[in-house]
Amino acid sequence: MPQVMVTGAAGFIGSIVVQALRDSGYDILGIDNLARGHRAAIDEGITFYRVNAGDYDALDRILQQSPVDAVVHLAGYIQASESMADPGLYYSNNVRDGISLLECMRRNGVTKMVFSSSAAVYGVPHSTPITEDHAIAPISPYGQSKAWMESVLESYARSHDLQTVSLRFFNAAGAVGRLGEDHRPETHLIPNAIRVALRVDPELALFGDDYPTPDGTAIRDYVHVADIARAHVLCLEALGELPSLAYNVGTGRGYSNKEVVDMVERVSLESIPTRIEPRRPGDPPELVADATALQTDLGWTPQMSALDQIVKDAFRWHRDHERGYPGS
Ligand SMILES: NC(=O)c1ccc[n+]([C@@H]2O[C@H](COP(=O)([O-])OP(=O)(O)OC[C@H]3O[C@@H](n4cnc5c(N)ncnc54)[C@H](O)[C@@H]3O)[C@@H](O)[C@H]2O)c1
Repeated sequence: MPQVMVTGAAGFIGSIVVQALRDSGYDILGIDNLARGHRAAIDEGITFYRVNAGDYDALDRILQQSPVDAVVHLAGYIQASESMADPGLYYSNNVRDGISLLECMRRNGVTKMVFSSSAAVYGVPHSTPITEDHAIAPISPYGQSKAWMESVLESYARSHDLQTVSLRFFNAAGAVGRLGEDHRPETHLIPNAIRVALRVDPELALFGDDYPTPDGTAIRDYVHVADIARAHVLCLEALGELPSLAYNVGTGRGYSNKEVVDMVERVSLESIPTRIEPRRPGDPPELVADATALQTDLGWTPQMSALDQIVKDAFRWHRDHERGYPGS
């Protein structure tokens, strides 16, 4: 059975990618330094090491002992606002550690990587829906760290025959079974709205109601984490044959913050008191993917990403985990 190393295996998306890969017959070697992840999210059926993705020597020992066929690299820090305050943290964790991982893979003859990139590489888009050939113009060190890693991967593909693809996720959301979204602090709208519906938090901050959108709030493209996980399975199977090095992972349909709050109210049957705050620096008015390429080249279409389905799944998870993962 092919063995895949998943970095960030204790994180929101990583834990669910692990599950999808196992369901497809892969053996998983998971790594995570648990800086932001949760021990309780780690699948008990995998081999797991608590290690930093940039710890060359430790990973070298691990890979010599347990050779892998491919790496799915999800480990990273994810908050644009934190990256504005501390860019060095993002460049060292997301770029330097990524390059160290690539070098370690090279030494151990691992020639395949699926990389988690982000819609943040596009910055403030000049057209929407956004296609992959849109200018790469990130406006935060977080987005820049993803754009640089994409360039590094391109160079490795050219110079070292690395078979690689970067998946630019839009807004990941939802939950699968016992696995859900528990970022601390949480900066994402759906879990934060649900926490208010569950009366864990008293009110929801909405950042900006003066955007040039129909109701004045920002518009985002929400994609179910199960659909993101399936994209990873398809990509791993097709690595080396894909015509492109980067794909958007989104639905092509955007929802405003207010529409999302309405949906959470409908699903939870609770009212959600909101407070309008100023726009967050670097939050574009609208981020919606054109995901045609992933559909054409890989046959991927979103299957679980209707907004009501996403919110229902997320709500169920948060209702069952009001304080998030235990022991974290
Ligand atoms: N959540 C989203 O909406 C979204 C959108 C676009 C892109 N992404 C990307 O997807 C990936 C996963 O996101 P997530 O929401 O699951 O985040 P997450 O914080 O839940 O998971 C990331 C995991 O990586 C681990 N980690 C971070 N740096 C590490 C390092 N140097 N070595 C080892 N482990 C490390 C953390 O402990 C955490 O468990 C990230 O790379 C993120 O940038 C996420």
